Amino acid sequence: MAGGMENRSRKRQVLSFFLCLCVSLGACETIRYSMPEEKKSGSLVANIAKDLKLDVGKLSGRSARLISESSKQYVELNARSGGVIIKEKIDREDLCGQRDLCFLQFEIVLENPLQLYRMEVQIDDVNDNSPKFSKNEFVFKIPELLPVNSRFPLERAQDPDISTNGIQSYAISSNEHFSLDVLSQQDGSKYAELVLEKQLDREEQAQLMLILTAADGGLPQRTGTARIRVNVLDNNDNFPQFSQSVYKVQLMENSPRDTLVTKVEASDLDQGLNAEITYSFGQVPDKVLKLFQLNPFTGEITVLGIIDFEDAAMYEIEIQVMDGGGFTSHCKVVVEIEDMNDNAPEVTLTSLTSTIPEDSSPETVVALFSVSDRDSGDNGRTLCSIQDNVPFALKSTLKNYYELVTQKPLDREKVPEYNITIIATDRGTPRLTSVRVIQVQLSDINDNPPVFNESSYVMYLKENNPPGLLIGTVRAADLDTEQNAKVTYSALPGNIGDLPFSSSISINSENGQVYVLQSLDYEQRRDFQVTVRAADGGSPPLSSEAIVRVVITDENDNAPFILYPLQNSSSPANDLVPRSAEADKTSKCSLSFTRNSTD
Ligand SMILES: *[C@@H]1O[C@H](CO)[C@@H](O)[C@H](O)[C@H]1NC(C)=O
Ligand SMILES: *[C@@H]1O[C@H](CO)[C@@H](O)[C@H](O)[C@H]1NC(C)=O
Ligand SMILES: *[C@@H]1O[C@H](CO)[C@@H](O)[C@H](O)[C@H]1NC(C)=O
Repeated sequence: MAGGMENRSRKRQVLSFFLCLCVSLGACETIRYSMPEEKKSGSLVANIAKDLKLDVGKLSGRSARLISESSKQYVELNARSGGVIIKEKIDREDLCGQRDLCFLQFEIVLENPLQLYRMEVQIDDVNDNSPKFSKNEFVFKIPELLPVNSRFPLERAQDPDISTNGIQSYAISSNEHFSLDVLSQQDGSKYAELVLEKQLDREEQAQLMLILTAADGGLPQRTGTARIRVNVLDNNDNFPQFSQSVYKVQLMENSPRDTLVTKVEASDLDQGLNAEITYSFGQVPDKVLKLFQLNPFTGEITVLGIIDFEDAAMYEIEIQVMDGGGFTSHCKVVVEIEDMNDNAPEVTLTSLTSTIPEDSSPETVVALFSVSDRDSGDNGRTLCSIQDNVPFALKSTLKNYYELVTQKPLDREKVPEYNITIIATDRGTPRLTSVRVIQVQLSDINDNPPVFNESSYVMYLKENNPPGLLIGTVRAADLDTEQNAKVTYSALPGNIGDLPFSSSISINSENGQVYVLQSLDYEQRRDFQVTVRAADGGSPPLSSEAIVRVVITDENDNAPFILYPLQNSSSPANDLVPRSAEADKTSKCSLSFTRNSTD
């Protein structure tokens, strides 16, 4: 800085010295030339000998010399030819910058006598500079959706040349989004602004590359270019989108926890946070939340609870996706549950007659039941059967309703009770079966008469027997039960001789014991027959008969036996008729028995 100032003040001194010189010489005129810049060194600027009408031969003798006012020696004097020639190429822009008029000034000094000539060469501009931008590339960050006509001023290009050789115009490579508006400043210099013509869409084109060209007005014209890179900034102008509006999937019931059901997928065309999406359940019932879970980041839906087809065969699940800007969309996941054969058929008894009379006719309904299976399809289709060694059959009335009916005549005396096994099977894989046992009892019907253990009985008796003597027992059995099997014995009416049986013989109605009531005499009657009947307690009662033949055997006479009253009240001896008799060997019983048989 100090050096510059010193320089300038010396120049001023020199100048004032010349001015004094000019004044003292009385003839100090400025001789003007003009030439374009950029002439090669050695080029002739002017011939001063000729122009100043000086003798070339004397120039050296007079110590002719050139004194430049500028620090740089652009020109020099050839003393032999008197020509001022270019020593160093002159750049107008170097010498004068942006000044409109540019002069190279120097003096020619001669001695003996001292003469001073002031010379001025106007340096004309040549279009030797191209417009130039400060950078090769300018970057603009412009948000999408900015309104059209938005403007972006551009940096000016520089061209050191002046006037028409300076920058005259700007242009931009053709594109659909931007135009260029070229404007002039007060001083006439030009500048340009980018004008948005069509809205930007980052999702369509995230970056634009334009070429900006600045041109000067020289001949030939020179241009300079720079790239304009437009980075389009994202705006949350896109909703997240599911790849499908409905996802339909099948899921086996009883699928274990964490089984992948499906994966929903959404995308968002925006960028960064605007494209960060998370998934969540939309409006779904609580039950769905207990059965399924959703990964908010991956969109994977997995099994959480126990999936039961019998509970629900289908679920419709609304899924929401949200981007970082709060935009949401929805999709639906339809989960169809596939049935698994996990339920056995169930037998439900509607009515049961657990006891039926043994004489029930075939087709009598014993039980009514239904068979159901909670599964569906083949898994829920049932078959029903009973074991085949029983006199019962199944009749299907309505679908899945059955009647258990008797098939053959029944006999309680042979089989008093049946355990009927109902087997219900479904057609799933594997087959599931359930079994139900129905117990059916047969109630007794009086269909069996009492039967004597012998078809006829013979009972022996010694004559002169004591009255009330037990001579034998008849026995009849009845296959029925209870009252129907309760046998009572009786003797059919008849006579022994003139007397009725009842006066001589007695049968205990309950146990069939046969008593002789009177003492009998062999000499009068050797045998007789009584028909006994066994009847049961049925209604009506059934009975059968047998013959009891009483044979009287001979014996030495004995004194007649006197029957004392018996203590035993249950004895049929109550029926005995006490009879007083002498203990006389010769006395004879006057009873005569005649059989008064029914046959
Ligand atoms: C039937 O089943 C019952 C109970 O299990 C049993 O007590 C009875 O003896 C069975 N009857 C037949 C005839 O199998
Ligand atoms: C029949 O029953 C009577 C009385 O119980 C008995 O004394 C007799 O021996 C029986 N007869 C036969 C053939 O079993
Ligand atoms: C009464 O008679 C029955 C049979 O008829 C017999 O078992 C019982 O011992 C007798 N009792 C007396 C006290 O004689």
